[in-house]
Amino acid sequence: MPYSILINGAKRTVDVDGDMPLLWVLRDVLDLKGSKFGCGAGFCGACTVHLDGAAIRSCQMPVSAVGDAAITTIEGVGASEVGKRVQAAWIAVDVPQCGYCQAGQIMSASALLTGTPRPSDTDIDDAMAGNLCRCCTYLRIRQAIKQAAGISTEAAGSL
Ligand code: FES
Ligand code: FES
Repeated sequence: MPYSILINGAKRTVDVDGDMPLLWVLRDVLDLKGSKFGCGAGFCGACTVHLDGAAIRSCQMPVSAVGDAAITTIEGVGASEVGKRVQAAWIAVDVPQCGYCQAGQIMSASALLTGTPRPSDTDIDDAMAGNLCRCCTYLRIRQAIKQAAGISTEAAGSL
């Protein structure tokens, strides 16, 4: 059946089964391939998008559950001030290695900094714990989050 969903500020109508995961809708129906399929089970974070600003695993959300919520994907996150800063910090720190997990990492980091503009190490650990990186870019991710938050890593004494 048709579902009308708000994605990156635009209403899109998709005619799919209601139990189709949002990730499938994004990638296979709407051709928004920035959000990645990793585990398909809610464990890796590669599929992370924002639902009304909160980081969610799109592989675990049926499209029928989205309703009127605003979805933001990696293709649209740069439209916000925080998303722009996070992306700039990611480039400046040269975070990615293979890159596969990075869209999800940026989405979780952006949601974190929107709610907690100057996060502690514990805040960062808590927010990013569900985003795995096979290339172990964790130190650079932490550095980029701090850079986007305007926290000096020297003053903080740790990455
Ligand atoms: S693909 Fe969604 S959490 Fe791994
Ligand atoms: S950069 Fe390769 S999985 Fe994270």
